[in-house]
Amino acid sequence: MNKELINKIKTEFEYKFTQHPLLVRSPGRINLIGEHTDYNMGLVLPATIDKCIIIALAKSNKNISKIYSIDFNESLEIDFNNIGKQEVGSWKNYIIGVISGILNKSAKIENFNLVFGGNIPIGAGLSSSAALENGVVYGLNKLFNLGLNKSEIMNISIAAEHNFAGVNCGVMDQFSNLHGKSENAIFLDCYDLSFQYVSLQLDNYQFLLINTNVKHQLNNSPYNQRKLDCETGLQILQIKFPQLNSLSNTDLGQLNSVKEKLSTKVYNRCLYVIEENERVKSSKIALENNDLQSFGDLLFASHKGLSSLYEVSCPELDFLVDLAKKDTSVIGSRMMGGGFGGCTINLIKKDKIDNFINKAESEYQHKFGLSISTYPVNISDGTQIIKL
Ligand code: GLA
Repeated sequence: MNKELINKIKTEFEYKFTQHPLLVRSPGRINLIGEHTDYNMGLVLPATIDKCIIIALAKSNKNISKIYSIDFNESLEIDFNNIGKQEVGSWKNYIIGVISGILNKSAKIENFNLVFGGNIPIGAGLSSSAALENGVVYGLNKLFNLGLNKSEIMNISIAAEHNFAGVNCGVMDQFSNLHGKSENAIFLDCYDLSFQYVSLQLDNYQFLLINTNVKHQLNNSPYNQRKLDCETGLQILQIKFPQLNSLSNTDLGQLNSVKEKLSTKVYNRCLYVIEENERVKSSKIALENNDLQSFGDLLFASHKGLSSLYEVSCPELDFLVDLAKKDTSVIGSRMMGGGFGGCTINLIKKDKIDNFINKAESEYQHKFGLSISTYPVNISDGTQIIKL
């Protein structure tokens, strides 16, 4: 269980604060399928992985809290009486955001010292931010006996993401981070947060993430824009079907009956959401039947929808998925996460991983003049206290 990483964080904490810390492990996540469906109250199939953030923390008798990020080599001091946002894009907003959320709940926290670091690639779509938010709340909950349940922890983290990081994300990342289970994916209905574990029998296959190492910065947050497109579609559908309370409860017949009232763009967004929810249901069945081939086909179909209907892919992601499609050792591939860069997720024969990586590396370099990064991943447990 990432012993070296745990030791590194623990040692750094003890050196800095001369105290023994409480240790929390908070994992990154992959999403097998069900992309951009969470904020449409739809279905997702995420799983937590063996890449994580380790958080070391202990009570402090000072009148400020001190936080140190090993990976950024940056410190943050928080005065509970004077909490303000930090520069856009900084990890500090995630921590300030959750502290503010805890204080808003009138939970009794006192000052603390905290050191964290990890091995979740940042900006790759593996939810390092949710891992940090949840991990910090989880640790403070234990340290100060706050009595928060998983759903309260999740909501504090989501509010931090919305109000401090400025991303109007859904529930998938924070929920899966807390509920992850080794060798299982989580079939989650974001409408009512009901979920079931789906056992992953991958036999001689493995999930391999390939990072494009690009993150296209587009104007006016395309993520929030996609959410608005879906809300526009739902509002128009609701004129004819007032009982509809989410895009994920509609069907193709209803959508087509209002087609002429929707712009092509909004129609395509809604069509994608309807089809993706169906693909998540089919994926669950395929995995339960150990039918990896059908599951793989659904991954390819998901990518097609994300690229052509939802328009959240980019040339680098499309290139890697096309490459995977042409290679018989990969039975499924798609872009993963918010999009516009980050990773593809590939279901690949274990003994062919090195061959495929070599090929992808040279062809990607040739096409874009850039390197890929690759991460074979295993499915691990969700956030927990580390018992040494
Ligand atoms: C990001 C968000 C999630 C989800 C995905 C897309 O990871 O944080 O809530 O919307 O994008 O599926």
